[in-house]
Amino acid sequence: MTDSAALRRSDFPADFRWGVSTSSFQIEGAGREDGRGESIWDRFCSEPGRIRDGSNGLVACDHYHLWPQDLDMAKALGVNAYRFSIAWPRVLPTGRGPVNEAGLAFYDRLVDGMLERGLDPWATLYHWDLPQALQDRGGWTSRDTVAAFLEYTDVVTRRLGDRVKHWITHNEPWCSCMMSYWEGVHAPGGRSLPNALQACHHVLLSHGQAIPLIRRNSAGADVGITLSLHPIAPASSRDEDAAAVRRHDGLRNRWFLDPLFGRGYPQDTLALLGAAAPRVEPGDLEAIATATDFLGVNYYFPEVVRDDPAGGPMGTALVEREGVERTAFGWEVSPQGLVELLTRIQRDYAPAVIQLTENGSTFEDVLTADGRVHDAQRLSYLQRHLAALKQAIDAGVPVKGYFAWSLLDNFEWAEGYLRRFGLAYVDYATQRRILKDSGLWYGRFLNE
Ligand code: FCB
Repeated sequence: MTDSAALRRSDFPADFRWGVSTSSFQIEGAGREDGRGESIWDRFCSEPGRIRDGSNGLVACDHYHLWPQDLDMAKALGVNAYRFSIAWPRVLPTGRGPVNEAGLAFYDRLVDGMLERGLDPWATLYHWDLPQALQDRGGWTSRDTVAAFLEYTDVVTRRLGDRVKHWITHNEPWCSCMMSYWEGVHAPGGRSLPNALQACHHVLLSHGQAIPLIRRNSAGADVGITLSLHPIAPASSRDEDAAAVRRHDGLRNRWFLDPLFGRGYPQDTLALLGAAAPRVEPGDLEAIATATDFLGVNYYFPEVVRDDPAGGPMGTALVEREGVERTAFGWEVSPQGLVELLTRIQRDYAPAVIQLTENGSTFEDVLTADGRVHDAQRLSYLQRHLAALKQAIDAGVPVKGYFAWSLLDNFEWAEGYLRRFGLAYVDYATQRRILKDSGLWYGRFLNE
């Protein structure tokens, strides 16, 4: 592998897309301003015990007001693309029906601000902040939410489609469905596997049905979806563990990739799910398989599994590899896992273009007396993952862009503000942003 510290921007293709990634609920704040409606995350945060530090997203990084300086910082880093998401309840406060002009106007200004700074806007339509009014009618478990998503998509892409030419329909359906409707750890806190699978089906369906709409409203735009994907390794060389890898992969990765690439839901996984499998109507699978322009991949960590007959519907259990480097979240640090994941996607699905839409790490950052944040581990994580990315590109995987998660420390969902992922440190008491050593390095790397 390339010596990661010696890596240069010029080691990558000249037209490579360099970005940072953010999401609306995690940074915007202004939770009750300018007519924004309640989202499922506002409601979830108000329920005791849901968020580890008892916090919420009402102020967050106050990006709603501080966006010009945030975009200035992104520009100074030298990125040429900026990934953000649109808060559905800011645009349609009750999910459908009346449009909130002030909400749309915010994104108008934000997009113009990106273009003025030479940042190509990459908009995600759904990064988990569903309007609570839709959740009150079943949220993603209800097929009506698909129609609501199309209405929302139509409003947003009509307004921004002349300037935004990269659209991501959904961010990480695993999280917005499985963690949200099955594992109970994300809003709205559901605990039913059949509901989660039905929700996933509706999310995928809404993705597929939105594609022609986006293309109509945003001429020449590239459209894709972002998945959280994991390379999966067996805990031992036993045959049982190899079989467990296959089963775990069925729900974790193939459940999403197979239908998106026109293969329907994986038969082996469906067999294990039995009666929990989602209801699929005629034409749904064709819609889900609508061709996209890129596959967005978010990579954070590999998983290790063993056979465990008592371990949920797939009969597997996660194992923690001993003696490996981990982030403060406990996630295993594995640049090699990125190479494995990308080459596997390429081998099994051969998407024409892959965009690495998120990758990053959380550590215990300290603002030191010199006014700096010496985040040596994050810096090393970033360098080694870029070296891994180069290795995958050299091996022929068509990755065309890298978006670091995240520009700023932000509201990290159920962990609240306890987890910092930013290239810039946020002092929440003053809202001051301080580029960490990792951010300073990314800037030098990009500006060289
Ligand atoms: C991803 C999410 C993103 C952020 C990172 C750390 O799963 O897409 O919003 O929380 O993890």
